[in-house]
Amino acid sequence: MDDKQSEELIKRAMLQAENNDLLQSRDPHWLQYHIMPPTGLLNDPNGLIHFKGKYHVFYQWNPFATSHGAKFWGHCTSSDLVSWQVEKTALAPSHWFDKNGCYSGSAIEHEGKMYLFYTGNVKDAEGNRQTYQCMAVSDDGKSFRKKGPVIRLPKGFTAHFRDPKVFSHNGQFYMVIGAQNIEKNGCCVLFVSQNLYDWEYMGILAGSRHNGWGDYGYMWECPDLFSQDNKDVLLICPQGIQPQGEKYRNIYQAGYFLGEMDYQNSTFHAGSFTELDCGFDFYAPQTFLDERGRRILIAWMGITDENEALHPTIAYRWVHAMTIPREVLVKDEKLYQRPVPELKKLRCHYKAWKNVVLNGETEQLKTTGKSLELCFTRMDINNEAFFSIDFWGYATLAYDAKQQKLILTRKSLKNKSSDEQRVCSIKSLSALQIFLDASSLEIFVNDGEKVFTARIFPDSNQNSITLSSLGKTAYSLEKWDLNPMN
Ligand code: FRU
Repeated sequence: MDDKQSEELIKRAMLQAENNDLLQSRDPHWLQYHIMPPTGLLNDPNGLIHFKGKYHVFYQWNPFATSHGAKFWGHCTSSDLVSWQVEKTALAPSHWFDKNGCYSGSAIEHEGKMYLFYTGNVKDAEGNRQTYQCMAVSDDGKSFRKKGPVIRLPKGFTAHFRDPKVFSHNGQFYMVIGAQNIEKNGCCVLFVSQNLYDWEYMGILAGSRHNGWGDYGYMWECPDLFSQDNKDVLLICPQGIQPQGEKYRNIYQAGYFLGEMDYQNSTFHAGSFTELDCGFDFYAPQTFLDERGRRILIAWMGITDENEALHPTIAYRWVHAMTIPREVLVKDEKLYQRPVPELKKLRCHYKAWKNVVLNGETEQLKTTGKSLELCFTRMDINNEAFFSIDFWGYATLAYDAKQQKLILTRKSLKNKSSDEQRVCSIKSLSALQIFLDASSLEIFVNDGEKVFTARIFPDSNQNSITLSSLGKTAYSLEKWDLNPMN
């Protein structure tokens, strides 16, 4: 196939998106202010970049079905991280080196041009996989010319070798790639380049049970490496880690190692692995530095599990979305995530309750829509109390002060009469910032110390959020309705 066929595929994908407009906007679970696919399935964020004053988000996209398949790179841009415009689809799976999917990757600016790096996924008739790390380039950030593979699979790895993240450091370019070695251990490898075209393999950077790394599963996806607040941070998505108590309850994990990157010896000295999110739907996070110097993270508000085929949005021919953009900070050896302040632009219809005390009582918050923000501050929960927030009878967040546990419960998609839970230990609860959209919940605990991200599918007739406390809980609360983003 050639570039002409690539253009044809892109046209077909965009037409498919236009044709779904009407159907999708009738969906009660249609999100008001999140990035979502115009039709079909969206997964990982790709190529996050602030390029010539515009924020760009690309994403893994199957325009033709609500299942996984040969992925395109969908594309949208924003001048404020709040309102997003759909752009022409950036990459289509059209060439011999990417015919079964333009898989995840990243973007970097160099000499005024935008370079995309992605994994060309190729399968033969028997389903055997090949992998190529490919490049595409753009002058205007709108149309992209494919340059083909720049890296072939090195020895010692299976073809599960993907998701290049490129960045610059001290005048050189570096690339980290998620990999599986031939012993079937997950790991992350490092390449270096002077010009973005020629890459030298520097070895395994982290994982794979070498140099004292423990068992972190059979494959690492979507790595990211950056430095923040004098710490180096390696984000990875390990597959094959078994649940341990409250930890690792989702099928795959997304988390980080804090440590020190040794560029001379191509090694990363790390502490322990910490999950980035305590909820149900969070995967493949990626970060970028914006022109104001902020490190911003966006993740897929979803995960490849048995639930994804059960999302009710599939009746409207779409599935999944991105999280809201979050600023990343490192404090006290922990990574904090905070919603970017630009999201305040969405706020309207304000109400506030000062110094509320609940002691065995229940408070109903009437809601008109399902897109809102709640900010609890000055929280003071008696050490025997049990405080809970019930979201439209579909999901509940509860703090058990005695056990020092925060618990998110939602209805199971598999079996509507049963519930599922995620729990995180937290010594004290002082603040909650909660973003609700028609079918999503993002809860920022104690100024971003912990986050719960989840999709929820409440009944459209439910119109109240219920607060209650067994034992004494005091707080102040602010509530805003949030406007649709455009
Ligand atoms: C993570 C992932 C990546 C891959 C992409 C394919 O969700 O599996 O490793 O590049 O999705 O869509």
